[in-house]
Amino acid sequence: MTKHVPPVSPDNTFRTEILAGLTAGRKTISSKWLYDDVGSHLFEAITELDAYYPTRTELAILEQNRRKYARLPGTRGAMVELGSGSSRKTDLLLGAFSDLSVYMPIDISANHLKTAAEKVRRAYPSLAVIPVAADFTQPLGQLPLLPELPVVVFFPGSTIGNFEKAEAAQLLGNIRKIMPESTMIVGVDRPKAEEVLIEAYDDPAGITAAFNQNLLQRINRELGADFDLASFTHRAVWNGLESRVEMHLESLRDQSVSVAGTRIDFAAGETVHTENSHKYSEEAFTGIANEGGWRVLDRDSDKDGLFSVYTLQAV
Ligand code: SAH
Ligand code: AVI
Repeated sequence: MTKHVPPVSPDNTFRTEILAGLTAGRKTISSKWLYDDVGSHLFEAITELDAYYPTRTELAILEQNRRKYARLPGTRGAMVELGSGSSRKTDLLLGAFSDLSVYMPIDISANHLKTAAEKVRRAYPSLAVIPVAADFTQPLGQLPLLPELPVVVFFPGSTIGNFEKAEAAQLLGNIRKIMPESTMIVGVDRPKAEEVLIEAYDDPAGITAAFNQNLLQRINRELGADFDLASFTHRAVWNGLESRVEMHLESLRDQSVSVAGTRIDFAAGETVHTENSHKYSEEAFTGIANEGGWRVLDRDSDKDGLFSVYTLQAV
């Protein structure tokens, strides 16, 4: 009789990275793993919260300036979007970018990406919509069509703030290498009063807490782990030295958890660091952009100075 051999997971990255993060001296998991189907939907719910000012503020800046952005050379070719999510902000730009021929959203959350891409396809039938389900921190290889077209990169949401400073500069540098001569429209959240930030990342309705805790549920679902959700709590902490809000999951007691057959011990009060959300001044972000090989062409902000949208040129 032939022995049944279960298919080897084509991609062990999730398992490998989660185990490495949970067995490190300071337990840390990359925020990119927050986005499975459930996480992407919870993020969309966050964007509707009164407390979460970035989405509505950036949308207003984009709406006000979209005619100006439509004059960027890439808008006569391809728009590549990094971390496209629901493509809601894109929809706003696409209405103004009438000469665009290709839209390439790149996102790690594959199902969410597929649904969003189909919606864009229906709304803009003459546009070639090419979704790429990938981790944009990893080599993307040769992206189709791009060598032949002028490119505008759209990187909204202040997702760039989810990287450490050096990683952010490196990511911008990698993007410049793949898409030389392109321009970029990038959303960047700005420093502001600590109370405003903590309310945004620890909202009264508990949606951000659910978004953070979903990571443990995801590990339970995908890696057969046994995290007891009730014994971990969401924490949002302002780290002034690094100018960032940090999300953590704090263990409420001494406990052991089994993750993919590995025992992980937690002391009461110990945390898993799950996200950084850097808030950059103009000077700080310009430094990162320059280090990554981009020149700042322009910056647009709301009147309260909450959020900025930069236009960059690859140099
Ligand atoms: N651009 C949208 C969504 C922001 S949420 C907005 O502004 O509202 C961040 C998005 O980036 C999510 O959709 C998430 O799945 C995606 N993402 C995060 N890290 C990623 C990575 N390393 N590679 C690809 N996509 C990533
Ligand atoms: C996608 N990213 C920029 C969001 C942020 O604000 O850092 C994710 C998020 N985390 C908690 N709330 C929203």
